[in-house]
Amino acid sequence: MSSTAAARSILVTGANGVLGHAIARIFLEREPESLVFMGTRSGRDRVEALISEYPGRAFAVALEVTSAEDWSQVLTQIEQHGAPLAVLVNNAGFHDDALLATMSADQWTSVIAGNLNSVFLGCQTAVNAMMRHRFGRIVNIASLSALHGPAGQTNYAAAKAGVLGLTQSLAKETARMGITVNAIAPAHIEGALPAGWAEEQIKAARLQTPMRRFARPEEIAAVVFFLASADASYITGATLKMDGGLV
Ligand SMILES: NC(=O)c1ccc[n+]([C@@H]2O[C@H](COP(=O)([O-])OP(=O)(O)OC[C@H]3O[C@@H](n4cnc5c(N)ncnc54)[C@H](OP(=O)(O)O)[C@@H]3O)[C@@H](O)[C@H]2O)c1
Repeated sequence: MSSTAAARSILVTGANGVLGHAIARIFLEREPESLVFMGTRSGRDRVEALISEYPGRAFAVALEVTSAEDWSQVLTQIEQHGAPLAVLVNNAGFHDDALLATMSADQWTSVIAGNLNSVFLGCQTAVNAMMRHRFGRIVNIASLSALHGPAGQTNYAAAKAGVLGLTQSLAKETARMGITVNAIAPAHIEGALPAGWAEEQIKAARLQTPMRRFARPEEIAAVVFFLASADASYITGATLKMDGGLV
Protein backbone atom coordinates (compact mmCIF):
# COMPACT_ATOMS: atom_id res chain seq x y z
CA MET A 1 0.00 0.00 0.00
CA SER A 2 1.14 3.57 -0.57
CA SER A 3 1.89 5.93 2.30
CA THR A 4 -1.37 7.80 1.56
CA ALA A 5 -3.51 4.68 1.96
CA ALA A 6 -6.23 4.71 4.63
CA ALA A 7 -5.53 2.97 7.92
CA ARG A 8 -7.01 -0.48 8.15
CA SER A 9 -7.06 -3.13 10.83
CA ILE A 10 -5.54 -6.55 10.43
CA LEU A 11 -6.46 -9.39 12.81
CA VAL A 12 -4.22 -12.45 13.05
CA THR A 13 -5.31 -15.33 15.29
CA GLY A 14 -2.77 -17.50 17.10
CA ALA A 15 -0.30 -14.66 16.64
CA ASN A 16 2.11 -15.89 19.27
CA GLY A 17 2.77 -19.05 17.26
CA VAL A 18 5.57 -19.51 14.75
CA LEU A 19 3.54 -18.70 11.65
CA GLY A 20 1.18 -16.20 13.31
CA HIS A 21 4.15 -14.15 14.46
CA ALA A 22 5.63 -14.05 10.96
CA ILE A 23 2.26 -12.98 9.53
CA ALA A 24 1.75 -10.20 12.09
CA ARG A 25 5.31 -9.01 11.48
CA ILE A 26 4.97 -8.76 7.71
CA PHE A 27 1.94 -6.45 7.99
CA LEU A 28 3.74 -4.31 10.57
CA GLU A 29 6.83 -4.08 8.36
CA ARG A 30 5.25 -3.63 4.96
CA GLU A 31 2.02 -1.75 5.64
CA PRO A 32 2.93 1.14 7.93
CA GLU A 33 -0.63 2.54 7.96
CA SER A 34 -2.12 -0.63 9.37
CA LEU A 35 -3.08 -1.47 12.92
CA VAL A 36 -2.27 -5.09 13.66
CA PHE A 37 -4.33 -6.96 16.28
CA MET A 38 -2.71 -10.15 17.47
CA GLY A 39 -4.98 -12.82 18.92
CA THR A 40 -3.41 -14.58 21.89
CA ARG A 41 -4.47 -17.40 24.15
CA SER A 42 -1.75 -18.55 26.58
CA GLY A 43 1.58 -17.57 25.01
CA ARG A 44 2.52 -13.87 24.74
CA ASP A 45 6.31 -13.56 24.39
CA ARG A 46 6.49 -13.03 20.61
CA VAL A 47 3.45 -10.77 20.66
CA GLU A 48 4.94 -8.63 23.46
CA ALA A 49 8.13 -8.25 21.43
CA LEU A 50 6.17 -6.92 18.42
CA ILE A 51 4.21 -4.53 20.64
CA SER A 52 7.50 -3.08 21.92
CA GLU A 53 8.90 -2.87 18.40
CA TYR A 54 5.79 -1.22 16.93
CA PRO A 55 4.21 0.87 19.70
CA GLY A 56 0.77 2.27 18.82
CA ARG A 57 0.32 -0.09 15.88
CA ALA A 58 0.58 -3.59 17.34
CA PHE A 59 -1.98 -4.76 19.90
CA ALA A 60 -2.62 -8.00 21.76
CA VAL A 61 -6.21 -9.17 22.01
CA ALA A 62 -7.33 -12.13 24.12
CA LEU A 63 -8.94 -14.48 21.64
CA GLU A 64 -9.81 -18.09 22.31
CA VAL A 65 -10.93 -18.83 18.77
CA THR A 66 -13.61 -21.34 19.78
CA SER A 67 -15.42 -18.69 21.84
CA ALA A 68 -18.12 -16.65 20.06
CA GLU A 69 -18.03 -14.19 22.97
CA ASP A 70 -14.28 -13.59 22.51
CA TRP A 71 -14.77 -12.91 18.80
CA SER A 72 -17.46 -10.37 19.54
CA GLN A 73 -15.34 -8.63 22.18
CA VAL A 74 -12.31 -8.50 19.89
CA LEU A 75 -14.35 -6.93 17.11
CA THR A 76 -15.57 -4.25 19.54
CA GLN A 77 -11.97 -3.56 20.62
CA ILE A 78 -10.85 -3.22 17.00
CA GLU A 79 -13.72 -0.90 16.10
CA GLN A 80 -12.90 1.32 19.08
CA HIS A 81 -9.54 2.07 17.43
CA GLY A 82 -11.36 3.56 14.43
CA ALA A 83 -9.78 1.64 11.54
CA PRO A 84 -12.19 -0.88 9.98
CA LEU A 85 -11.41 -4.58 10.13
CA ALA A 86 -10.13 -5.20 6.61
CA VAL A 87 -8.08 -8.39 6.95
CA LEU A 88 -8.68 -11.52 9.00
CA VAL A 89 -6.07 -14.27 9.03
CA ASN A 90 -7.48 -17.41 10.63
CA ASN A 91 -4.14 -18.89 11.63
CA ALA A 92 -4.72 -20.45 15.08
CA GLY A 93 -4.82 -24.22 14.97
CA PHE A 94 -3.35 -27.39 16.39
CA HIS A 95 -3.27 -31.11 15.86
CA ASP A 96 -3.69 -34.04 18.22
CA ASP A 97 -2.82 -37.14 16.24
CA ALA A 98 -4.00 -40.71 16.79
CA LEU A 99 -5.12 -43.62 14.68
CA LEU A 100 -8.89 -43.45 14.28
CA ALA A 101 -9.33 -46.86 15.90
CA THR A 102 -7.99 -45.51 19.16
CA MET A 103 -8.87 -41.82 18.88
CA SER A 104 -10.87 -40.52 21.83
CA ALA A 105 -14.08 -38.60 21.20
CA ASP A 106 -12.44 -35.59 22.82
CA GLN A 107 -9.48 -35.76 20.40
CA TRP A 108 -11.96 -35.68 17.54
CA THR A 109 -14.20 -32.89 18.80
CA SER A 110 -11.45 -30.62 20.14
CA VAL A 111 -9.51 -30.72 16.87
CA ILE A 112 -12.67 -30.02 14.85
CA ALA A 113 -13.57 -27.19 17.24
CA GLY A 114 -10.10 -25.62 17.27
CA ASN A 115 -9.46 -25.82 13.53
CA LEU A 116 -12.89 -25.63 11.87
CA ASN A 117 -15.60 -24.29 14.20
CA SER A 118 -13.15 -21.51 15.05
CA VAL A 119 -12.85 -20.53 11.39
CA PHE A 120 -16.65 -20.46 11.08
CA LEU A 121 -16.87 -18.10 14.08
CA GLY A 122 -14.07 -15.88 12.80
CA CYS A 123 -15.46 -15.67 9.29
CA GLN A 124 -18.96 -14.88 10.53
CA THR A 125 -17.69 -12.11 12.80
CA ALA A 126 -15.47 -10.64 10.11
CA VAL A 127 -17.90 -10.88 7.21
CA ASN A 128 -20.61 -9.03 9.12
CA ALA A 129 -18.14 -6.23 9.87
CA MET A 130 -16.58 -6.20 6.40
CA MET A 131 -19.95 -6.09 4.60
CA ARG A 132 -20.56 -2.64 6.09
CA HIS A 133 -17.45 -1.34 4.29
CA ARG A 134 -17.87 -3.52 1.22
CA PHE A 135 -14.26 -4.59 1.50
CA GLY A 136 -12.46 -7.45 3.15
CA ARG A 137 -9.74 -10.05 2.86
CA ILE A 138 -9.97 -13.35 4.70
CA VAL A 139 -7.09 -15.81 4.58
CA ASN A 140 -7.56 -19.21 6.20
CA ILE A 141 -4.50 -21.24 7.11
CA ALA A 142 -5.35 -24.86 6.35
CA SER A 143 -2.77 -27.60 5.80
CA LEU A 144 -1.53 -29.97 3.15
CA SER A 145 -3.14 -32.64 5.36
CA ALA A 146 -6.48 -31.39 3.98
CA LEU A 147 -5.43 -32.49 0.50
CA HIS A 148 -3.64 -35.76 1.12
CA GLY A 149 -4.92 -36.97 4.51
CA PRO A 150 -1.99 -38.59 6.31
CA ALA A 151 -2.57 -41.64 8.53
CA GLY A 152 -3.01 -40.59 12.14
CA GLN A 153 -4.68 -37.30 11.29
CA THR A 154 -8.32 -38.12 10.50
CA ASN A 155 -9.45 -35.38 12.88
CA TYR A 156 -7.01 -32.72 11.65
CA ALA A 157 -7.35 -33.65 7.95
CA ALA A 158 -11.16 -33.51 8.22
CA ALA A 159 -11.06 -30.15 10.00
CA LYS A 160 -8.65 -28.59 7.53
CA ALA A 161 -10.50 -30.06 4.52
CA GLY A 162 -13.62 -28.46 6.03
CA VAL A 163 -11.78 -25.14 6.05
CA LEU A 164 -11.14 -25.48 2.31
CA GLY A 165 -14.82 -26.22 1.64
CA LEU A 166 -15.90 -23.30 3.81
CA THR A 167 -13.45 -21.06 1.96
CA GLN A 168 -14.87 -21.94 -1.45
CA SER A 169 -18.52 -21.54 -0.43
CA LEU A 170 -18.00 -18.33 1.51
CA ALA A 171 -16.00 -16.83 -1.37
CA LYS A 172 -19.08 -17.19 -3.57
CA GLU A 173 -21.32 -15.61 -0.93
CA THR A 174 -19.12 -12.55 -0.47
CA ALA A 175 -17.61 -11.96 -3.93
CA ARG A 176 -20.05 -9.19 -4.84
CA MET A 177 -19.35 -7.37 -1.59
CA GLY A 178 -15.65 -6.85 -2.25
CA ILE A 179 -14.67 -9.54 0.23
CA THR A 180 -12.26 -12.24 -0.90
CA VAL A 181 -11.76 -15.51 0.96
CA ASN A 182 -8.76 -17.72 0.27
CA ALA A 183 -6.85 -20.52 1.93
CA ILE A 184 -3.24 -21.62 2.15
CA ALA A 185 -2.32 -25.28 2.58
CA PRO A 186 1.26 -25.49 3.86
CA ALA A 187 3.27 -28.65 4.36
CA HIS A 188 5.79 -28.66 7.21
CA ILE A 189 7.02 -25.32 8.49
CA GLU A 190 10.59 -24.76 9.66
CA GLY A 191 10.66 -24.05 13.38
CA ALA A 192 7.22 -25.59 13.93
CA LEU A 193 7.75 -29.28 13.29
CA PRO A 194 5.61 -31.76 15.22
CA ALA A 195 6.81 -32.10 18.81
CA GLY A 196 8.68 -35.31 19.44
CA TRP A 197 9.94 -35.86 15.91
CA ALA A 198 13.30 -37.67 15.89
CA GLU A 199 16.18 -36.27 13.84
CA GLU A 200 15.82 -39.25 11.47
CA GLN A 201 12.16 -38.42 10.83
CA ILE A 202 13.01 -34.79 10.11
CA LYS A 203 15.72 -35.85 7.66
CA ALA A 204 13.36 -38.26 5.89
CA ALA A 205 10.64 -35.62 5.56
CA ARG A 206 13.15 -33.15 4.09
CA LEU A 207 14.36 -35.76 1.60
CA GLN A 208 10.79 -36.55 0.56
CA THR A 209 10.26 -32.88 -0.32
CA PRO A 210 11.40 -32.06 -3.87
CA MET A 211 12.90 -28.76 -2.61
CA ARG A 212 14.70 -30.70 0.15
CA ARG A 213 13.65 -28.21 2.78
CA PHE A 214 10.59 -27.06 4.72
CA ALA A 215 8.78 -23.74 4.26
CA ARG A 216 10.14 -20.79 6.15
CA PRO A 217 7.34 -19.00 8.09
CA GLU A 218 8.25 -15.78 6.24
CA GLU A 219 7.55 -17.45 2.88
CA ILE A 220 4.01 -18.30 3.94
CA ALA A 221 3.52 -14.88 5.52
CA ALA A 222 4.50 -13.26 2.21
CA VAL A 223 1.71 -15.15 0.43
CA VAL A 224 -0.80 -14.13 3.10
CA PHE A 225 0.32 -10.53 2.61
CA PHE A 226 -0.14 -10.82 -1.14
CA LEU A 227 -3.64 -12.32 -0.77
CA ALA A 228 -4.55 -9.39 1.49
CA SER A 229 -3.26 -6.82 -0.98
CA ALA A 230 -4.97 -4.91 -3.79
CA ASP A 231 -2.89 -6.95 -6.27
CA ALA A 232 -4.86 -10.08 -5.34
CA SER A 233 -8.26 -8.48 -5.93
CA TYR A 234 -9.45 -11.08 -8.47
CA ILE A 235 -8.42 -14.14 -6.45
CA THR A 236 -11.13 -15.67 -4.30
CA GLY A 237 -12.10 -19.18 -3.24
CA ALA A 238 -8.58 -20.37 -3.98
CA THR A 239 -6.37 -22.77 -2.06
CA LEU A 240 -2.66 -22.23 -2.53
CA LYS A 241 -0.68 -25.28 -1.54
CA MET A 242 2.79 -24.42 -0.27
CA ASP A 243 4.69 -27.68 -0.05
CA GLY A 244 7.96 -27.34 -1.93
CA GLY A 245 6.55 -29.57 -4.68
CA LEU A 246 5.57 -32.46 -2.40
CA VAL A 247 2.08 -33.13 -3.84
N1 LIG B 1 3.66 -26.26 11.72
C1 LIG B 1 3.40 -26.82 10.56
O1 LIG B 1 4.24 -27.55 10.01
C2 LIG B 1 2.07 -26.55 9.90
C3 LIG B 1 1.82 -27.15 8.65
C4 LIG B 1 0.61 -26.90 8.03
C5 LIG B 1 -0.32 -26.08 8.60
N2 LIG B 1 -0.06 -25.52 9.83
C6 LIG B 1 -1.11 -24.65 10.39
O2 LIG B 1 -0.54 -23.36 10.55
C7 LIG B 1 -1.18 -22.68 11.63
C8 LIG B 1 -0.13 -22.10 12.57
O3 LIG B 1 0.60 -23.18 13.13
P1 LIG B 1 2.07 -23.02 13.75
O4 LIG B 1 2.91 -24.02 13.09
O5 LIG B 1 2.49 -21.60 13.76
O6 LIG B 1 1.75 -23.56 15.21
P2 LIG B 1 2.11 -22.96 16.64
O7 LIG B 1 3.47 -22.36 16.66
O8 LIG B 1 1.78 -24.08 17.59
O9 LIG B 1 1.05 -21.80 16.82
C9 LIG B 1 -0.31 -22.04 16.91
C10 LIG B 1 -0.94 -20.86 17.61
O10 LIG B 1 -2.36 -21.08 17.63
C11 LIG B 1 -2.83 -20.78 18.91
N3 LIG B 1 -4.03 -21.55 19.19
C12 LIG B 1 -4.25 -22.88 19.06
N4 LIG B 1 -5.49 -23.19 19.42
C13 LIG B 1 -6.08 -22.01 19.79
C14 LIG B 1 -7.37 -21.66 20.26
N5 LIG B 1 -8.33 -22.58 20.45
N6 LIG B 1 -7.64 -20.35 20.50
C15 LIG B 1 -6.69 -19.42 20.32
N7 LIG B 1 -5.46 -19.69 19.90
C16 LIG B 1 -5.16 -20.97 19.64
C17 LIG B 1 -1.71 -21.14 19.86
O11 LIG B 1 -1.90 -20.41 21.05
P3 LIG B 1 -1.16 -20.77 22.44
O12 LIG B 1 0.02 -19.85 22.49
O13 LIG B 1 -2.18 -20.47 23.47
O14 LIG B 1 -0.81 -22.23 22.37
C18 LIG B 1 -0.50 -20.69 19.06
O15 LIG B 1 -0.22 -19.33 19.29
C19 LIG B 1 -2.12 -23.69 12.27
O16 LIG B 1 -3.43 -23.49 11.79
C20 LIG B 1 -1.58 -25.03 11.78
O17 LIG B 1 -2.58 -26.03 11.74
C21 LIG B 1 1.11 -25.72 10.47
